[in-house]
Amino acid sequence: MTIAEPGDPSVLRISEVADPVARDGEVVIRVAAAGLNGADLSQRRGFYPPPPGAPEWPGLEVSGTIASVGDGVERWQVGDRVCALLPGGGYAELVSVDAGLVLPVPAQVDLVEAAGLPEAVATVWSNVFRIARLATGETLLVHGGSSGIGSTAIQLGRAFGAQVIATAGSDVKTAFCRDLGADAAVDYRSQDFVEAVLAVTDGRGADVVLDIVGGSYIARDLDALAVGGRIMSIAIRDSAPASLDVGLLMRKRALIHGTTLRARPLAERREIIADVEAQVWPLLIGRRLRPVIDSVFPLADAAQAHRRMESSAHLGKILLRAD
Ligand SMILES: NC(=O)c1ccc[n+]([C@@H]2O[C@H](COP(=O)([O-])OP(=O)(O)OC[C@H]3O[C@@H](n4cnc5c(N)ncnc54)[C@H](OP(=O)(O)O)[C@@H]3O)[C@@H](O)[C@H]2O)c1
Repeated sequence: MTIAEPGDPSVLRISEVADPVARDGEVVIRVAAAGLNGADLSQRRGFYPPPPGAPEWPGLEVSGTIASVGDGVERWQVGDRVCALLPGGGYAELVSVDAGLVLPVPAQVDLVEAAGLPEAVATVWSNVFRIARLATGETLLVHGGSSGIGSTAIQLGRAFGAQVIATAGSDVKTAFCRDLGADAAVDYRSQDFVEAVLAVTDGRGADVVLDIVGGSYIARDLDALAVGGRIMSIAIRDSAPASLDVGLLMRKRALIHGTTLRARPLAERREIIADVEAQVWPLLIGRRLRPVIDSVFPLADAAQAHRRMESSAHLGKILLRAD
């Protein structure tokens, strides 16, 4: 599913491209499903070009079975059920990927649904746990709790013993966050999230904030932050420059850290995936973490899937089935 030219969802076109081959250290995956991400929408609009060497068509994560194995790959065999983090190219029947970015799909997990795991789990794990070091008994504030990232952050926060507060844009979405395990959920359109977080934490504030808004939210995140708190900035919805009280930042001994996953060097992405398998996969096997799937569209209907994501009506992940 390629992008004919930058534009609205109608620019997504089925095209015939050459089959990928597994180079040294790579595998080719026969795709069962691909997960949709906000980055795909930005790429389609012409704002987020794929990194050098990645396919031109979108898709940052897939599930499927191993179709072929390159030299030097010992772990994977043809037919293995897997999911993988990609630099691009997931909206396809076949995709090649570095063998270190591949994860096994446990028998308990549906192969199609597993397409919704790699990007959200790797993003939440690397930000909230590896960098911000959320600890048992701390409070995590998740903005956009009903999103693919948010639904994963709520489940992982709870599984690792944190108190989780989520924000979302409607009553349906806040109820959805509570059903996923959030201790409290705030409709940010009708309630001030800073007041709500301070009320829920007896004035202490959140220890870690996962921010997907930027702009004016950063100062408000800081107001809602506990002493020693960490703000993880992973997306921009408010593109205005953030302005904040540096004195308050100092008094709270707070940290603000921004990252993107796709741009990180391959070695770092491999390290995150290995850590995810060691630390998070046992929860998946024990059914304490599950992919939260909003809807599954045929790959040919990718434009409809993009429209659904743009409508923001979805709860959890949107997938594209490749068969
Ligand atoms: N930096 C990284 O490495 C990285 C990696 C993956 C994803 N991301 C980014 O993380 C974000 C979430 O990803 P996703 O795939 O989960 O996206 P998604 O499913 O499209 O979710 C975005 C959600 O944000 C909510 N939202 C918008 N404004 C909000 C606000 N002010 N407060 C609270 N919620 C708000 C929307 O709901 P309402 O419309 O109802 O508010 C929507 O549910 C995306 O922007 C994505 O690009 C970053």
